[in-house]
Amino acid sequence: MTEAMPAAASTQPTFAEPAEGAVEHAEAADAVRSRGPEEFRARRERFMASIGEGVAVLAAAPELVKSRDTDIPFRQNSDFFYLTGFLEPGAVAVLTPHDGAHRFTLFVRPRDPERETWNGRRAGVEGAMQAYGADAAYPIEELDSRLKALLEPADALWYALRADGGEMDRRMLALLTGFRAPRPRAGKGPWDLRDPGQLLDRMRLIKEPGELALMREAAELAARGHIAVMRAGRPGVGEWELQALLDQTFRSYSATSGTSFPAIVGSAANATVLHYVTNDRRIEEGDLVLVDAGADVGFYCSDITRTFPASGRFSAPQRAVYDIVLRALEAGIEAVRPGAPANAMHLAARRVLVEGMITLGLLEGDPEKLIEEEKFKRFFMHNTSHWLGLDVHDPGSYTARDGEPIVLQPGMVLTIEPGLYIPEHGDDIPAELRGIGIRLEDDVLVTEDGHEILTRAVPVDPDDVERICSEARS
Ligand code: GLY
Ligand code: MN
Ligand code: MN
Repeated sequence: MTEAMPAAASTQPTFAEPAEGAVEHAEAADAVRSRGPEEFRARRERFMASIGEGVAVLAAAPELVKSRDTDIPFRQNSDFFYLTGFLEPGAVAVLTPHDGAHRFTLFVRPRDPERETWNGRRAGVEGAMQAYGADAAYPIEELDSRLKALLEPADALWYALRADGGEMDRRMLALLTGFRAPRPRAGKGPWDLRDPGQLLDRMRLIKEPGELALMREAAELAARGHIAVMRAGRPGVGEWELQALLDQTFRSYSATSGTSFPAIVGSAANATVLHYVTNDRRIEEGDLVLVDAGADVGFYCSDITRTFPASGRFSAPQRAVYDIVLRALEAGIEAVRPGAPANAMHLAARRVLVEGMITLGLLEGDPEKLIEEEKFKRFFMHNTSHWLGLDVHDPGSYTARDGEPIVLQPGMVLTIEPGLYIPEHGDDIPAELRGIGIRLEDDVLVTEDGHEILTRAVPVDPDDVERICSEARS
């Protein structure tokens, strides 16, 4: 980052109209609250079937302070949400499959008219049972006095360390330790601490139809945001203004929609900074603008990157680099099919990029050797794919315990995101290529017979991109 804060904008981007379809989605896409407890109950049952004699304890996300008495907007822990649908902080779920009548207990913040007047409604103990299907519910203050009895019959405690930031860890470790001394006589109490991620990560990898419906919406919404910024992103506009346009487009879609992560808007050489989020430079004539932004609908994420010419046309060197990244994207997507190893996309995209680096004069030599010696990492230093779902970087192993990549299955959703990042400085780099950064990213569903790209409502073909950029100027 080199630019200081510039003078006032001469050209403002036009703020987006309410996103197309926003009105009819306003209620339905308040998707979390409109989903019944059944989908969550079904998941809990599947999860409980796998933990046998164990007990699972899941904590809501912690509330995080922004400054003094102001919080960062609360976002529920994804695993906790996945199994409960419960959106409030200050909650703990206990799953006890051995107890026929009480398999799902929720500890929640109790109703409190005064606190609710200040900070919003709570489901309370009654709501936890009626709206969220808990078999039993108690005020969170009773957690310590009740947890021991809930854990006692279990052989293992399934609990994710650090899920709430630490406070629950101390409680759970104290309970586990407390079972040690009396266990020989009492014969009760869990021996093992096991990470629920071992089971949940695998469940979350395969998306259910309801989850896919939300992911499709999130993908389409992100595509709209990208088209809006292609139209608005011209010389004189600040990167931050494009970020604001993305935020506005995503947030205005429904009561619970928003951005899935802080948008990256990198113009010129800022595009070569992988996690650039400062977004404080004003776009100049001839710049490329890399925009990596995703929407979140009903807690499900999308993640798209496009790179477009601020002046409406790619220069010849920009286009040459773009074409290579696009070919790498297509090669990566082509590799997505059931049964393919989870690194196939990276290997395919990387091969195209390395050959492109040779064509561009960035590297010399045999592609195999350049890959073996990792020379390509100067220009392409990240992986090509990650899982996508409730989290932008959704959990789940890419590699099995034997070190081999896992195999793709229908229902998995992943990104394909090759890029070329050419440093601004370097005597050995062709001058016309210095400072060019291009990434292209699509979200792809593994289907029964191949794949489906979820994000092509925003074009990636360079002629189409130029057309959208130029349309806005005519
Ligand atoms: N936006 C983060 C990523 O592309 O992985
Ligand atoms: Mn991204
Ligand atoms: Mn990504």
